Amino acid sequence: MSEGYTGAGHRKSAARYTGRVAIDLDPGAAGIGNARLVRAMIDEMAGGAIPFERFMELALYHPEFGYYRRPGRIGPQGDFLTSPVIHPMFGWAVAGWCHAAWERMGRPSPFTIFEPAAGEGALAASVLDWAESRDDGFRGALRYIAIEPGARGNDPRVEWASPPITAADAGVVISNELFDAFPVRLFDVGGRGPVEVGVIWNGEAFAEVPLGVVSLDDAPAEGRFEVNQHAYGAMRSLCGLVERGAVLTFDYGYPQEELWAPWRTTGTLLCFYRHTAHENPLIHVGEQDMTTHVNFSELVSAVEDEGFVAHGPVRQSEFLLSMGLGALVEGARNDMGEYFARRRALQTLTDAAGLGRIRVLAATRGLDGSLPGFEDAP
Ligand SMILES: C[S@@+](CC[C@H](N)C(=O)[O-])C[C@H]1O[C@@H](n2cnc3c(N)ncnc32)[C@H](O)[C@@H]1O
Repeated sequence: MSEGYTGAGHRKSAARYTGRVAIDLDPGAAGIGNARLVRAMIDEMAGGAIPFERFMELALYHPEFGYYRRPGRIGPQGDFLTSPVIHPMFGWAVAGWCHAAWERMGRPSPFTIFEPAAGEGALAASVLDWAESRDDGFRGALRYIAIEPGARGNDPRVEWASPPITAADAGVVISNELFDAFPVRLFDVGGRGPVEVGVIWNGEAFAEVPLGVVSLDDAPAEGRFEVNQHAYGAMRSLCGLVERGAVLTFDYGYPQEELWAPWRTTGTLLCFYRHTAHENPLIHVGEQDMTTHVNFSELVSAVEDEGFVAHGPVRQSEFLLSMGLGALVEGARNDMGEYFARRRALQTLTDAAGLGRIRVLAATRGLDGSLPGFEDAP
């Protein structure tokens, strides 16, 4: 479902037709981001500071002007690329994995795939295409439920749902870059411990201000770091969606000791604006993505606390290669256009400096033995 407005054009018409033009007339403020979002943030600040986490939440998810409220953010025309939009091969690998889980479970019907953070449905489409072309029994058993704030997909094979969502007896929960899109608390370590970072409007621009000192277990001893306080609870609720089955999670991140390693003194927050990565969340507000690396130790604790067995995490490059993506490339040699498209896609999806770094965590309940991609994982 489209929300019916577009970025630059939208901003221009806001300046021209609404009464709230003060921000648009100020050249400094106009460079800050979506004028109406900036206005809403300044109103909420009411002359004071808001925690960075709230700033990030408004920037990405403000009900009207948040970054993710507008379609077209992901892809060559947008600000950044994700695996499902690189090539349907990514979705075919995920579909193959879900199929293996379905077979291991004795081919239950219905078998539900839940996809939180479904975006505009790219992964859903390639998973369902694979199922249709490979196994009528699997396709017949499948229900595909996409969960996305402001759902906007239009594939009739997909059901778009919002919480609360009824759990399924058997199924898989898949997500790609869900947790790294959650708002995070930001801290700078000072002499008395971690100090929470807040954001104010100084009359011309957004600026950081220190809030209070907090006490946090195992926190880094210096530098800047983030705490994603929604990830653990969200993972537990995802586990609750399937009585029997699996949760398959793709995200940028590290185990806690690596995420909070002493040498990582600047945190992991990154912004993406028109395919350029930078570290300033206070500009292009509502017009750029903001993301942080996920604490995989917390995700593992969450699945274990729900009675699931964790497998991995493994690197996306290892996962995709063990799912047979190399053979998929070779299998297209009779069509050189497709062959080169797949070859380029495989390089991008497994690039050790890019998408290949993404970690894949599987968690299973009521499903014995190892699953493809995790045979050698701890
Ligand atoms: C980085 S994008 C990834 C989109 C898609 N999975 C992909 O790989 O192209 C993050 C997505 O997470 C969605 N999201 C954030 N919080 C969510 C939540 N609580 N439930 C479902 N989706 C959420 C955002 O709206 C956004 O579409």
